[in-house]
Amino acid sequence: MSQSEDNLLKKVIAHAKEYGYVFPSSEIYDGLSATYDYGQYGVELKNHLKQYWWQAMVRMNENIVGIDAAIFMHPTTWKASGHVDAFNDPLIDNKDSKKRYRADQLIEEYVSKIENKIAKEEGKAAKRFGDAFDLDQFRGTNPRVLQYQSQIDSINQKLKESIEQGALQDLKALIEELGIADPVSGSRNWTDVRQFNLMFSTELGSVAGESGKIYLRPETAQGIFVNFLNVQKTGRMRIPFGIAQIGKAFRNEIIARQFIFRMREFEQMEMQFFVKPGEELDWYQEWKEKRMKWHQALGLGSENYRFHDHLNLAHYANAACDIEFKFPMGFKELEGIHSRTDFDLKAHEQHSGKKLQFFDPSEDKSYVPYVIETSIGLDRLFLALLSKSYTEETLEDGSERTVLKIPAPLAPVKAAILPLVNKDGLPEKARQVFDQLKYHLLCQIDFKDAIGRRYRRQDAIGTPFGITIDHQTLEDDTVTLRDRDSMVQERVQITQLTSVLLEKCSLQQLLKQL
Ligand code: GAP
Repeated sequence: MSQSEDNLLKKVIAHAKEYGYVFPSSEIYDGLSATYDYGQYGVELKNHLKQYWWQAMVRMNENIVGIDAAIFMHPTTWKASGHVDAFNDPLIDNKDSKKRYRADQLIEEYVSKIENKIAKEEGKAAKRFGDAFDLDQFRGTNPRVLQYQSQIDSINQKLKESIEQGALQDLKALIEELGIADPVSGSRNWTDVRQFNLMFSTELGSVAGESGKIYLRPETAQGIFVNFLNVQKTGRMRIPFGIAQIGKAFRNEIIARQFIFRMREFEQMEMQFFVKPGEELDWYQEWKEKRMKWHQALGLGSENYRFHDHLNLAHYANAACDIEFKFPMGFKELEGIHSRTDFDLKAHEQHSGKKLQFFDPSEDKSYVPYVIETSIGLDRLFLALLSKSYTEETLEDGSERTVLKIPAPLAPVKAAILPLVNKDGLPEKARQVFDQLKYHLLCQIDFKDAIGRRYRRQDAIGTPFGITIDHQTLEDDTVTLRDRDSMVQERVQITQLTSVLLEKCSLQQLLKQL
């Protein structure tokens, strides 16, 4: 992470805490590592993000319905899904610092340092050659870049092989061969690599021991698979159709870090789309496009998104990619789109002894559908939005402001009602305006301090509109409506205010772009 990227992340974390978005969990006890609570504005933003996803998936697609499955599931679910046997990360400890790391991530970080060197070479050459610079040609011919690239390819190949073969000793050998040191202490004194299962377990009721062992779900998807037939039959759904769900998931990540990017308790928004076998790759393409469009409608800048196609596919997938977003720490996974074949439904058929098939009248036969999955982390989406909305500006008069430019349909508080002075009947008028708007939009009345300071406070929490009540309001029943981003003010009739704000703050503004 460059210094400015690191700074931005730090600023976002501090701002989120100071302005009621995200607090460290149980802070009065010094917090709990990588666990966060969403504050009064954070919860509103999170709810709006959920609505944006739910409406785009469930309301706007007649063949997608939603469910809300329990977090606890029968333990055989996780045997069938492969999580008991294979949901592991390779961990390694440094004997001197006693710090624990994911062995594969240490190697990936080493690779990304070489990638940064390539980027530096490219940057220097682009400056040198100006308009005549041809990036592809440079990459294909520059000896230093070619050497770096061949180093990367060789490391990636060894990493891939050792992970696929579960050869933990090879992973350690690679770490030693590359001379990777503990990022904290600089020590190269490593333990062997061990597998670590990421599922949290607990015991059901009074039954202790292996027989009562249950897990906190590590993904919401399995709640959808086990309900496939329930929903298909009761909803009279016909292939192709989808089931969507929003809910908490838990993973005992070896290192959880980078604020809410990687946590042990997080929230997923997942959709499984059941299709006819053989048609899955067309649907996979379609969902890739649809999901990218959904992200871009947020207006955070199309240059901040990219697809990362998986070259190493999980054993159950026949295609997979990530939508990556340019977080303050660089491009990272925001959403996964996977063509999961019939792996999950078939595995649940085998373990439960129940048929999970669809009778297709057009074919006059039953089959286990194939599945396209879209899976996005709500907390990561929150971080994406917050970090791109965070803006520091110097205004024309030389003063500075920090403003969260959150799109109005997603902003926690839609309007701040601000009586110019706290007398002359203006507070009472402000209360009337609040009472008019409260059925439709979350608003705040703020009486304290000079109007400029109140605007700054609302800018910092991202309130898109300021409604100022002044003496003219008492004469002609108009208010000024101030736009957070342009700071332009217009005079609006109070009778028009509800419809004007509803129009500007409606989720339809985003959904209509899809
Ligand atoms: N059902 C498929 C599945 O769970 P995944 O790639 O492991 O796939 C999907 O997770 C999404 O969940 C990721 O793209 C990411 O946004 C989010 N996610 C995964 N682990 C997370 C964590 N520890 N903290 C926050 N979000 C996480």
